[in-house]
Amino acid sequence: MKIGIDKIGFYAPHLFVDMNELAVARNIEPEKFTIGIGQEKMAIAPITQDPVTLAANAALEILDEQDKEKIDFVIFGTESGIDNSKSAAVYVHRLLGINPHARSIELKQACYGATAAIQMAKGHIALNPDSKVLVLASDIARYGLNTSGESTQGAGAVALLISAEPKILALEEKSAYLTDDIMDFWRPIYSDRAFVDGKFSNEQYILFFQKVWEQYKEKSDFGITDFEAICYHLPYTKMGLKALRTILDQGTEEEQQRLLENYKISSKYNRMVGNIYTGSLYLSLLSLLEQKEDLADGSRIGLFSYGSGAVGEFFTGILQSNYREHLQIQHHRELFESRKEVTVPEYERIFDNTLPIDGSSIELDTDSDPAAICLSGMKDNMRLYINKLNR
Ligand code: HMG
Repeated sequence: MKIGIDKIGFYAPHLFVDMNELAVARNIEPEKFTIGIGQEKMAIAPITQDPVTLAANAALEILDEQDKEKIDFVIFGTESGIDNSKSAAVYVHRLLGINPHARSIELKQACYGATAAIQMAKGHIALNPDSKVLVLASDIARYGLNTSGESTQGAGAVALLISAEPKILALEEKSAYLTDDIMDFWRPIYSDRAFVDGKFSNEQYILFFQKVWEQYKEKSDFGITDFEAICYHLPYTKMGLKALRTILDQGTEEEQQRLLENYKISSKYNRMVGNIYTGSLYLSLLSLLEQKEDLADGSRIGLFSYGSGAVGEFFTGILQSNYREHLQIQHHRELFESRKEVTVPEYERIFDNTLPIDGSSIELDTDSDPAAICLSGMKDNMRLYINKLNR
């Protein structure tokens, strides 16, 4: 039985800041951000979007009534969760009207969370072939204004429907993974901003990639020749390129060319959104599938997942017949085209405009947010959500 990705949804908030403008405001050469880091635009979440609403908006575009009946497991990968007890999955379960007889949980291991969710979903489908699992990957990346991580922030979510006989990508059996207790990036529970050892995190990302790639080759007998493309977790688009370059000499010139070209296509969406932490790898996969028109059915795609702290995994999938017919290409084009640029001072105001943490109530203006699902306020220490489609 094949198991894998049946549908992919994506949502990014409607606001972005231009990286050239941010560089100028920070007295940095714009090329450092656009070439050195490889980012063009950074998605900004207004106060009416949090990881729950981003995920719910991403899933909204892909689920039909039959999916909602069949889903019996909702797994929410996030590292910017809104509650230390209740899972973000439970909110999305209600907002989308999913079958009540479902398990709903949250999973965390930095940017690796969604990959863990997919592997868990795969096991669940193997035992329950008729069911479907909704995997949500949603985050808001925050390092702080004027920090070295600032240019690698972002916000957004990817929703993946995992099922038997998937229409888009069948996951293969072999996979290689690694854990090592390191402090390259972390966020203590009292902080809404991440702490990072930037250079160390870059080195570890590459080291993890090399280790799991070598382990994968031993386990599978596959090598560069067998891959049409490799997608990477992209905290910024230069990062995956650095990792890819370390193995290119294992292929012929033609293979190197193919992997580099496909890498570029797989990083297009990420260049326009920024780091969405655990969803970044899947945004890169989506970019490849939607932006490369001639990617053949049956192609093998490699996926490198990295979550600081750290856990890494290399796994693979095979594109299914007519997979392109099951993508939301037009919808995502419209999403990108309809975004609105904010100035750097506006971005700074939005960044600093956070929810009350003293128990006071707040009512938010959801009319200025075009998203269907929004955070509408807080009352009695509870977040309140609305789905405008149900009004
Ligand atoms: P930095 O100190 O601002 O930048 O840190 P830099 O000095 O290292 O420069 C960056 C690149 O720009 C360099 O290129 C420069 O040469 C180049 P490289 O040598 O690396 O190829 N550059 C220029 N290029 C063209 N024209 C110019 C110019 N000037 C300089 N004029 C850093 C950058 C990414 C470290 C920082 O932004 C940071 O700490 N970000 C957050 C951490 C991060 O993203 N780490 C990535 C690996 S860890 C990971 O992926 C996990 C993560 O997603 C979290 C999770 O798992 O949850 C972060």
